[in-house]
Amino acid sequence: MYEQKKQKELYETSKTLLKKKDIPNKGAAAKEVADLHEVIVYHEWRYYVLNEPVVSDFEYDSLYKRLEAIEQAYPEMITPNSPTQRVSNDLTADFPTVAHLIPMLSLDNSYNAEDLKDFDERIHNLAMIPQEEEVDYVVEPKFDGGSIALVYENDKLVRGATRGNGVEGDDITNNMRALRSIPLTAKFSDYGIHKVELRGEALIRLDRFDNINKKREVEEKSVFANPRNAATGALRMKNPKETAARGLEAFIYQLGYATDKDGNDVLNKFPTHHEGIEMLAALGFKVPTIERKLCKNIEEVSQFCLDWQEKRDGYDYEIDGMVVKVNQLAIQEKCGYTSHHPRWAIAFKFKAKQATTKLLDVEFQVGKIGQITPVAKLEPVALAGVTVSSVSLHNEDFITSKDLHYNDTVLVERAGDVIPYIVKALSELRDGSEKAITYPKNCPSCNTILTQQEGEAAWRCENYTCEAQSLRRLIHHVSKHAMNIDGFGEKYIVRFNELGWLNSLADIYRLDYDKISELEGFGQRSADNLKAAIDTAKQNGIARLLYGFSIPHIGRSVSKTFAAEIEDIRDLKDWTEEQIVNLHDIGPKVAKELLVFFNKQENLDLLDELDSLGVNMKRLDSEMKQEAITDGVFSGKTILFTGKLQLMSRTDAQAKAKGAGAKAVSAVSGNLDILVVGEKAGSKLKKAQALGTVEILSEAEFLERLG
Ligand code: IVH
Repeated sequence: MYEQKKQKELYETSKTLLKKKDIPNKGAAAKEVADLHEVIVYHEWRYYVLNEPVVSDFEYDSLYKRLEAIEQAYPEMITPNSPTQRVSNDLTADFPTVAHLIPMLSLDNSYNAEDLKDFDERIHNLAMIPQEEEVDYVVEPKFDGGSIALVYENDKLVRGATRGNGVEGDDITNNMRALRSIPLTAKFSDYGIHKVELRGEALIRLDRFDNINKKREVEEKSVFANPRNAATGALRMKNPKETAARGLEAFIYQLGYATDKDGNDVLNKFPTHHEGIEMLAALGFKVPTIERKLCKNIEEVSQFCLDWQEKRDGYDYEIDGMVVKVNQLAIQEKCGYTSHHPRWAIAFKFKAKQATTKLLDVEFQVGKIGQITPVAKLEPVALAGVTVSSVSLHNEDFITSKDLHYNDTVLVERAGDVIPYIVKALSELRDGSEKAITYPKNCPSCNTILTQQEGEAAWRCENYTCEAQSLRRLIHHVSKHAMNIDGFGEKYIVRFNELGWLNSLADIYRLDYDKISELEGFGQRSADNLKAAIDTAKQNGIARLLYGFSIPHIGRSVSKTFAAEIEDIRDLKDWTEEQIVNLHDIGPKVAKELLVFFNKQENLDLLDELDSLGVNMKRLDSEMKQEAITDGVFSGKTILFTGKLQLMSRTDAQAKAKGAGAKAVSAVSGNLDILVVGEKAGSKLKKAQALGTVEILSEAEFLERLG
């Protein structure tokens, strides 16, 4: 898309523009706006299409903000294709229906090498090619997201639509404009194309998808079952800002239609599919790259498909197969279409991520805050490489809404890293042996009557001394994000609990290590290690301790917020509801649960007991509220230290950098601004030099800059 020389020039222009502060006069502004357009589009391409940014997020944001500021000063300079105009403020009331320029067809399916061989034979027959001659194919992923069709006219994006019924879809132009992997302008005219329709798929990267669901869980919103649902939902959001915030990316995989100024079909300007896709890449579109292969014959196709079947779980996006396309357009034309699919293409479907099995039993588990979680026990079934024998049923509503019964045949799905879940019961396979799943009225562990809080789906056992609950609380208390007691796993907790050594949280801090060392499978060394880990944990900050109490709604981040406000964890007993909800990001639910906990005498006694056992109750300096430093010499910069530092310790260096506004990162990437090198710096230095965009400082230079 950009030659190396051009890239260097754009990079340097960016750095020059970044130094500018005042708003230019009108004459200079026009030139600067044009430059800003160009560099911002370039950086968006590096980031959203290539995934290899060359400036930091901060620098990109600064360029963007500068463009916004100049546009605000000279509104007449705002053009519809300015990078600032991607997201409009207009909410879409509904999505008008639009007709695709040519229908968006489906694909025929294949499942193994034999099916592919049959397909190849059919192609030879349809195109009247002797079987011994080889046909070229392009193989690319079958992306599992939401299909889209984009129309460009006169080099401008004029329309974006969903697949709909294949003939007509929803007009989602505003939402498509918000995706930075979709260029607002592209020089199709350089190829003699006036109007073109592109087909592609809008997707959410799997790591982003996980984050979206984690966030939704914290916000107590329903989570998405799979990335496809999250993506198709995002396509049709009323507010384009929300579409953009979901992090959708658009991969383009097909040229559907192309005409010149006189309306003549010019699709065949590119004799092959491969060349068509290369043109799109050159125009700045995101197209499959390493995941796409031009194969000389069907054997190569099969091999590539099978390789990807193995690799799919390590891939960044959800794919459910590969798509095999005849490369030569002339051969495609001879093969033609059915009303359902092109005869020149076929999907190679990966092994099912869905399977059916029997629901044998339901176990009702008690969680650390007494919530009851039903877990289905299944007849073990192989699903995309793992054996599944139990899945969570979440809560009573889930069971009712899916109308699940004991002995039902159920459809189980596992997508990406997503944990397996039950899609539905196959009611048509019932034979009368199925029985209703009865939800317990009493706690399966302590028999206390279960209660349901208003607006919550989960039933809870409110007995704080319930054995199952206290065991879960103990396990949580020592876990990584709570007190982080290294080597103290669930197995030991259960064992010590059975031996009667561990009943309350305080017991953790008064274990008898002599007795432990005599336990079978333990020994002196493990006992010493455990003691050392527990002694270290006693010095933890109070945010970990607070989180480690398993108070409903008090998660890690809420615990940190509180820790920053108090000196001793016991100060919280004097807080009022009003004081609590006044804290940023803290709501009434948290306030209620915190008050309940700190108003119970037994909990205050527990705190005193922990104190007397040597557990730290006071806020650490590192837990104090941190104001972002915006005027330091390194404000907004990312920094990394490598090699052996001679003039200061690494922790010291990082603290100094932080004090001057920098953010420490752990790897060299396009996002890195500054690398400070000590002695014997190795691969990180090389990588940074190769990037050419990282400022490299010696230790002395670093200290000098700090003044
Ligand atoms: S080509 C005329 N290529 O799969 C060509 N489709 O069952 C027809 N899909 O909804 C489509 N990845 O959105 C093609 N690399 C790819 C694809 C792909 C995903 C989707 C497509 C359609 C479905 C067809």
